[in-house]
Amino acid sequence: MEYIVYVEDLQPGMYVARLDRPWLESPFLFQGFTLRDADHIHEVQQVCEFVYVESAHTDPGIDLPRISTGAAPPASDNSRWRQRLKKFTARRPPWQRHSVSISEELPAARRLHDDSSELMRTALDNARTGRSVDIKSARAAVEDLTQSVMRNPDALGWMSKLKEEHEYTYKHSLSVCILSLVFGRHMCLPEAELHQLGLGAFLHDVGKMKIPLEVLDKPAALTAEELAEMKRHPEYGVEIVSDSGNVPDTVRDIILSHHERMNGSGYPQGLTAELIRPMTHMVAICDTYDAIVSKRPYKKPVSAVRAVEILNRERGNLFDPWLVDQFIQCVGVYPVGTLVELNNGETGIVVSANREARLHPRVLILLDKEGQRLERPFVRDLAAERGEDDRERFHIVHALGEEARGLNTGDLEQYMAQA
Ligand SMILES: [Fe+2]
Ligand SMILES: [Fe+2]
Repeated sequence: MEYIVYVEDLQPGMYVARLDRPWLESPFLFQGFTLRDADHIHEVQQVCEFVYVESAHTDPGIDLPRISTGAAPPASDNSRWRQRLKKFTARRPPWQRHSVSISEELPAARRLHDDSSELMRTALDNARTGRSVDIKSARAAVEDLTQSVMRNPDALGWMSKLKEEHEYTYKHSLSVCILSLVFGRHMCLPEAELHQLGLGAFLHDVGKMKIPLEVLDKPAALTAEELAEMKRHPEYGVEIVSDSGNVPDTVRDIILSHHERMNGSGYPQGLTAELIRPMTHMVAICDTYDAIVSKRPYKKPVSAVRAVEILNRERGNLFDPWLVDQFIQCVGVYPVGTLVELNNGETGIVVSANREARLHPRVLILLDKEGQRLERPFVRDLAAERGEDDRERFHIVHALGEEARGLNTGDLEQYMAQA
C-alpha cells in the first residue's frame, strides 16, 4: 500500500514509489528507489513537499504515517501542516520585502479593488439567479490581486479595510482626493505635484483605521476621551505610512497636518499660518468642505452653498483667505442649469455665474412666489439688485432637484434655449 509521507518525516529504508510531481521534473534517475541516507533524503527534500512511500518495499521496522493515498490527510494532520508552515516562514525569502512602496502600489490597488468587487458582485448575483459563474475572469482577477499583494500587501489591504469597515472614510478619502486634484489643477500645479497632492489627500485620514468603529461612527457627541483619541488620527496615519515604505514628504505632511488651522487652533501641533504648507492647507479646505456636505450618523448633509458660506466665514481665521477664494472660484457654487429657490419664494434656473460673486448668479425666474409658472420668465441678476443697506436683495435659499415643483428636464432645456 502507498502512503503519503511529508519530506520532513522521511527515513532511510523507505521506498519512494512516486513523487508529488512528475518524475521527469525531478533530478532522480529512477522511478522508485529506496532512501539510502540523510544526504539522499535531503535531495528529495529539495524537490518535493511529500512523496508516496510503498510499504511492501520499505524496511518492515519503519512505522509509516497513517495517511494512505486513498483519502485526504485527516484532521489530526493539522499539527504537521502547522510545522511545515513554520518551516516555510522561518525561511522567508527576501522577495517578501515590498518591491514597491505603498504610494506606488495604491493606484493599482484601488483599481483592482474596484474591479474585483464588481466582478464578485456579478459572480454572486449569477450564482444566486442560477446563471454560470465566470471562472476565467475570477481567475484573472485573483492573479492580478496576487501580483499586487506580492508587490506591496499594505496597499490592497488598506483599500479593502477602508471599503468594508469604513465605508464613509473610503468615500470621504476618495472625494477629498478628487476635490484636491480639481483644486490643484485650478492652481496649475505641475503633474508630479498633483500626484503627491492626490495621494496625500487620499491617505489623509488613514490613521482613522486605528480608531475603534464605535467612536468613528458614533451617532452622538464624543466624550472628551473619545475626542482626544480621535484627534490622534493624523499621528496614527504617519505611523501607518511610515511602516509602508517610501512616502514623499509632502504626503506625510498632509497626513500629519491636515487639521492644523491658520490661527493655531488646529491639531496635533497647533501650527500657525506660516508653518502650514500650502498643499496641506489646500487639502484641509477640501477636507472641511467634503465633511460639511457629507451625511454622517450625527449630522444631516449640508448643501454645497452652505459649505461654501462656512468656508467663506472662516477665511482669514481658520483658513488662508486667498486659498479659500481660489477654492470657491474653482468648485463654483451654482453651476449653470441649477434650479434654485430664492429668499422671496421665487424659483428659477441659473443661467450664468458672476465670476466675482459666485453666490449671486443670474437666475431666470420660472415660478412666482406662489409656485405658479410665469408666462414670461425673466432674468434676475442677484448681484446687481441691491437693497437699502447696499447688500444684495435676493439670495439663493437652496438648490432644488430638477424634478422639483413640476419642472422637468425638458422644460429646463426649453427655458435655457430662451434665456
Ligand atoms: Fe482628518
Ligand atoms: Fe478627513
